[in-house]
Amino acid sequence: MFNDRLERIGDYPFDRLRALLGPIEPAAGIEPISLALGEPQHPTPDLIRTTVEANAALWGKYPPMTGTLDARAAIAAWLTSRYNLPDGMIGDQNIVPVSGTREALFLIALAAVPENIAGKRPVVLMPNPFYQVYAGAAVLSGAEPVFLPAGPETGFLPDLSAVTPDILERTALAYYCSPANPQGVIADLETLKSMIELARRHDFLLVSDECYSEIYDRGVAPPPGAAEACASLGGSLENVAIFNSLSKRSSAPGLRVGFVAGDARLIQKFSRLRDYGGAPPPLPLLAAAAALWRDESHVEQSRELYRQKFDIAKKRLDGRLGFYRAPGGFYLWLDVGDGEEAAKTLWRDAAIRVIPGAYLARTDQNGHNPGNAYIRCALVHDLEITDLALERLAKTL
Ligand SMILES: Cc1ncc(COP(=O)(O)O)c(C=O)c1O
Repeated sequence: MFNDRLERIGDYPFDRLRALLGPIEPAAGIEPISLALGEPQHPTPDLIRTTVEANAALWGKYPPMTGTLDARAAIAAWLTSRYNLPDGMIGDQNIVPVSGTREALFLIALAAVPENIAGKRPVVLMPNPFYQVYAGAAVLSGAEPVFLPAGPETGFLPDLSAVTPDILERTALAYYCSPANPQGVIADLETLKSMIELARRHDFLLVSDECYSEIYDRGVAPPPGAAEACASLGGSLENVAIFNSLSKRSSAPGLRVGFVAGDARLIQKFSRLRDYGGAPPPLPLLAAAAALWRDESHVEQSRELYRQKFDIAKKRLDGRLGFYRAPGGFYLWLDVGDGEEAAKTLWRDAAIRVIPGAYLARTDQNGHNPGNAYIRCALVHDLEITDLALERLAKTL
């Protein structure tokens, strides 16, 4: 009765975490703290409440699948200013707001993966470790997922130039994430440009997941994005789909608003798919989203808070567990030797919940899971809780 591909994608990492830690009693007498989920807990901008209230009349309307002109204009203006794009490069026809990027990252594979490529099974490329939705999308669209190593040996980013021609020939889509979840590294502009050129040469879609683009450390330049790379290659958005979201930028994971940007043909095809199976953001929420994309002050405050949390992490962990200060994003990717064991120990002895790196990665052709040695800690709480959690973690491991 059910699609057997669902069996093949396996359990989602947080289900696996519940199964791992369920039988273990957390340390008694101390407040449990979860660093497992990348759910920003910074104060939610008041702009959401005020804009939703002001637009309450719109709850009575079905939201259009492609959002509103106002939201698309706010997003286009944000992209243009953030990446210093030439005027007119990104316009109304290049944007579609979505209900968070998670669903859109999934749906894009259904839009982009054909039945076959020259009679062969299509491939979807992705880094390893990676945001798990990529693999679910690959498998459920009927493609073969191909995992590209993104460990210390490749600077924690996948090397698309190392993909063999026979795989590239079958590639329909490649997911790429910078700043990377979980490792926090940032791809430079040249790397983004060469990936776009590769995508164009082999006619696949490069999906650039830029959800962490606004969270970067002191002294680090704002992470370059695929739109900027397209601009420096002449301005066309062909073969590129850019994904971004307010969940991390505006600490609003519950708002469920993000966007996809790409060339007009891609947006049309994607909108066709969503006409049948998409859920557009409700209009009052989309109005709030547009207001958030027009405001940078709350983003600056939030970014500063993350920097202070990396200061705390450095104070607690410098020189230990492979600690490094991630240039982007808000995760610690700690080398603890055995991530599953460390997660169990932390829960049992310190009431700290973290996710084993292995759950965010796949075992490769050589039987190696590049996440095995790691745990991921999300620095999403306030300064006090973060300090307490990392103090416990440092004492326990
Ligand atoms: C790499 C990456 N991409 C996309 C998402 C999805 O975010 P949202 O659906 O809230 O936009 C996340 C969320 O954690 C993520 O880590």
